[in-house]
Amino acid sequence: STKYRPFPPIDLPDRQWPSRTITRAPRWLSTDLRDGNQALIDPMDAEKKTRLFDLLVQVGLKEIEVGFPSAGATEFDFISGLVKTGRIPDDVAIQVLTQSRRDLIETSFASLAGAKTAIVHLYNAVSPAWRKIVFGMTREQVKQIAIDGAKVLRDEAAKRPDTRWQFEYSPETFSTAELDFSVEVCEAVMDVLQPTPDAPIIFNLPATVECATPNVYADQIEWFGRHIRHRDACVISLHTHNDRGTGVAAAELGMMAGADRVEGCLLGNGERTGNCDLVTVALNLYTQGVDPRLDLSDIDAVVNTIQYCTNLPVHPRTPYAGDLVFTAFSGSHQDAIKKGFAAQGARNDGFWEVPYLPIDPADLGRSYEAVIRVNSQSGKGGVAWVIEQDRGLKLPKRLQADFSRHVQALADETSRELGAADIWGRFEATYLPR
Ligand code: KIV
Ligand code: ZN
Repeated sequence: STKYRPFPPIDLPDRQWPSRTITRAPRWLSTDLRDGNQALIDPMDAEKKTRLFDLLVQVGLKEIEVGFPSAGATEFDFISGLVKTGRIPDDVAIQVLTQSRRDLIETSFASLAGAKTAIVHLYNAVSPAWRKIVFGMTREQVKQIAIDGAKVLRDEAAKRPDTRWQFEYSPETFSTAELDFSVEVCEAVMDVLQPTPDAPIIFNLPATVECATPNVYADQIEWFGRHIRHRDACVISLHTHNDRGTGVAAAELGMMAGADRVEGCLLGNGERTGNCDLVTVALNLYTQGVDPRLDLSDIDAVVNTIQYCTNLPVHPRTPYAGDLVFTAFSGSHQDAIKKGFAAQGARNDGFWEVPYLPIDPADLGRSYEAVIRVNSQSGKGGVAWVIEQDRGLKLPKRLQADFSRHVQALADETSRELGAADIWGRFEATYLPR
């Protein structure tokens, strides 16, 4: 449950718009420990992976892809160790990725020995470029790879009845493949695994490399959903990458096109330009009044853990999470924000409407004090705000105007951002000489 305040609805001239909105959170799948990890300069060691796993659980992720067990002993040992430590909550399903080869699938199942519930994720690439350039195979041969893999999944799962198994199949490179062929391959996989509405199969439809505008991906998702047999026995999962910078938009449009699940990484780590950033998708929902069912109320903990585990910096302009996203340097922005906070205090309609701030920073554990910073571009409003926050002093209007000139001079002299101590120092020197 949340007590957040969304942005008020945007007034559109024709009430038919927008034609679609997202009205509930998707199922989330974190692939931080798999797609995210495989893209790192320094892949995570077991200590970092465990720390990241704990963060994912804390944030509320219920489906977590923990690795690629057949890739080598390090991956295998981490996954089997994780299962044995008992740190996987009962309501969390771990997922592992495997290529479609009997020995690799068997290794993947072996890594999950003892798990209460697990998802085995099979994939093979289906697009013409991969068929032609990478494999030199026909459509039939590529389809057969998926069928053969699905048969091994079915048989290995049957040998291990103590685990609740789910299956995911990805026609890798889906977004650049022929849609009818992707449906044909997925239906062949369904024929083997016989999913039902109570035990559905997850079809993950990747934009392995983002090659088109997000609406094209959404159209592909919609087409797939309309044409796949037994739609009610499958979960449609989105897996976007960010090569064109629109991984989040593609996931959002994909949800509006009928998908059920979104795969990605916290803060968008992942191959090349990254996977879909789950934090941004979740908080975009939040600001639209949809409970994302992820707890991001301590965003700094998320940023710190991700930076520690990935050894990559989080850009200061990263939506919702970057260091600078709740700062205002210009005077007019500072003034508007100050008025917005004052108006917000008197508001009781459940909405959040402070100019230039799309969300209450406090909802993410960030503080109001960090919102306004003062540099040579700041106006009197910002300076007065800092004095009020720091010293509890409300400066009269005329004094604000006079003092801001002194602060401006100080900022010009130092050519840097001024902190509360600098500002108060100048105030004392100007008005309270000893
Ligand atoms: O991007 C991709 O296609 C993948 C698959 C293995 C699902 O990561
Ligand atoms: Zn991927």
